[in-house]
Amino acid sequence: MPPLCTRVTDLTVTELVKEPSILLATSRLAQVYDFANHQYFVWARHPDTSLSEYRESQSIYWNFVEHFSRALTAVLARIGPMVTRQKTVYSNVAEEHGYGEHDRSHWATSLSYLRAIGVDERLIARECPARLFVTHESLIAYCLVQPAEIGAAALAVIEYTHIKIATMLAHNMFDRFWGDLGAQQHYRFHAEIDSEHALGLFAVSEEGWKTESQRRRIAEGMLFGAQVWWSVFEALLPRDIIPPSKQDSILPLFGPDALAHREQVVDRPYPRHLCALPVTLSYGGAESAATVVGINRFGCQLVTPLTLPLDSEVTVLIPAIDSVAASAAPLTLHGRVRSRPETHDGSGLCIEFPALPAATHEQLSTLCSALRTAS
Ligand SMILES: [Fe+2]
Repeated sequence: MPPLCTRVTDLTVTELVKEPSILLATSRLAQVYDFANHQYFVWARHPDTSLSEYRESQSIYWNFVEHFSRALTAVLARIGPMVTRQKTVYSNVAEEHGYGEHDRSHWATSLSYLRAIGVDERLIARECPARLFVTHESLIAYCLVQPAEIGAAALAVIEYTHIKIATMLAHNMFDRFWGDLGAQQHYRFHAEIDSEHALGLFAVSEEGWKTESQRRRIAEGMLFGAQVWWSVFEALLPRDIIPPSKQDSILPLFGPDALAHREQVVDRPYPRHLCALPVTLSYGGAESAATVVGINRFGCQLVTPLTLPLDSEVTVLIPAIDSVAASAAPLTLHGRVRSRPETHDGSGLCIEFPALPAATHEQLSTLCSALRTAS
C-alpha cells in the first residue's frame, strides 16, 4: 500500500448545526480538527525533531500572519452598522496592525519571534511558496465574497483553535530550551488574547445561528475556516519534496504529432497483453468455451456468447500451452465480472482477479510475458 496523507474524520454541516450555540459548534469542530494530532505538531514535538528543522519549518509562517489581518479587515468591511464594527472586530483589526505602530503589528512580532529563535535571514527572505499563499488568499477571497457572519465564523474557528496551537508551541519551545521568554512572547501573547478575538467574531455570527438557513451557511463558513487553517500547517510540514519530472508529457499533445504522443501521456505499469487464447469459462456449475483477448495480473477480457450479471463469480480455465514452455500447466483463475464491453468479435466480459494466490501470479506473468502488449 503506498503511503497516504492522513486527514481528519468527515464532519458535515448537518452534524455541526445540531449544536445549540456557535461556541459549542466550534468546540465540536475543534475535536475533529484537533491540532494536537495534526502531523505538523506531532512532528514539531517529536524528540527527534531538531531546532534547525523547526526553524526552517516556521520560517515562512510570517507570510500567513501578514495576510490574515486582510481577511479580518474584509469581515470588518462587510459589517454594515458602525456600532457593530466597533463592538466586534474593530479592536482585533487594530491590534493586528499594531494600532498603527509597525513594531507592535503581529506581522512584526512574528518576525521578531523567528529571529529570536535563530531563524536564518535567508530563510525568512524566501518568496512565499504557493502551498502557503493559497491559504491566506483563499481566506481573503472568502471573507470578501461572503456575508460578514459567514466570514467571521471562518475566522472565529482560527482564533479559537489558535489558543491551543500557540500554547503548544510556547510549551514546546520552553521545554526544549529552544527559546527564551522574549522568543516565546509571540505565542504566549496569542494564547491570552485569542479568546477575546474569537468572542468578537462569534458576536458577528451568533444572531444568524438562531435561524435554520443562516445557521447552515455559518456552519459552512466554520468548516471552510477549519479546513484552510489545517492546510496552513500542512504547508509548514518538512515533507519530502517530490522531484519535478524531467519533461512534461502533456505538452507534445499540443504539437503537430499529437496523435503519436497520446499513449505516452502517462506511464502504464501494467498494460494488458493481447492474445487469442481459447479458454473454458465456468459459471454457476456450467462450462462454456470462450476466447481471452487481453490479460494481465489484474484480470482478463474474453469473448463469449454468455451475458452474465455484474459481480458474478466465474472461473477462467486456461489450458496448458505448449508454445509457452514455462506455463505448460493449466491455469485456474477465479474472478468477478466487472463490465460487459461490446467488441467487434461479439459480446465480451471483463473479469477482475481480485485475489490471486502468489503461485498463480507467477505462472500468469510468465504467460503474459510471452504475449504482446496492448496499446
Ligand atoms: Fe488573534
